[in-house]
Amino acid sequence: MGKVMIFDHPLIQHKMSIIRDINTGAKEFRELVNEISTLMAYEVTRDLPLEDAEVETPVGKAKTKVIGGKKLGIVPILRAGLGMVDGMLNLIPAAKVGHIGLYRDPETLKPVEYYCKLPSDIEERDLILLDPMLATGGSAVAGIQFLKDRGAKNIKFMCLLASRVGIDLINKDHPDVDIYAAVVDEKLNDHGYIVPGLGDAGDRLFGTK
Ligand code: URA
Repeated sequence: MGKVMIFDHPLIQHKMSIIRDINTGAKEFRELVNEISTLMAYEVTRDLPLEDAEVETPVGKAKTKVIGGKKLGIVPILRAGLGMVDGMLNLIPAAKVGHIGLYRDPETLKPVEYYCKLPSDIEERDLILLDPMLATGGSAVAGIQFLKDRGAKNIKFMCLLASRVGIDLINKDHPDVDIYAAVVDEKLNDHGYIVPGLGDAGDRLFGTK
């Protein structure tokens, strides 16, 4: 089963507390999602392999380490996942960025892909799929499957808020995928929203309602 990593870092917990607040406006919400994503990127990249290197300093030769040949890709699920992209790129600026757009079919309630543009060498990249809210898990599971169908082999899923149901669904359908979340809430309401959650992440990021 995939690993589930919850972030107990005080900075992340503090910032999550502010973005949950109904009185936090879109500008501050966006800035904080950006900052939390950067802090999470630090942990999500912890297992990147290092190679030995040597550099010439002003006073001699230093034996150093550099990140090995791993190629990374980040893939936000539209639209709310977009809010996490810049924060990730702050730490991994060379990562390629793909996009997946999904909507829920009102009849079948199944996620349907309406947009997909991915790096052409996706099968060689370690991918981090981004969606701030892991609620029912339907979009995340579908997004992971779309990536696998196109050849992706190594996928991590990163969100800000996860529900227990969403975590269980990813673990069941994609046990090879590690999950990274800042906070876990236990409940979903009848509309599939996380309770107490933070509301609609896309609306709060982009000021729509
Ligand atoms: N998407 C959101 O934006 N919020 C939720 O609570 C669930 C899904």
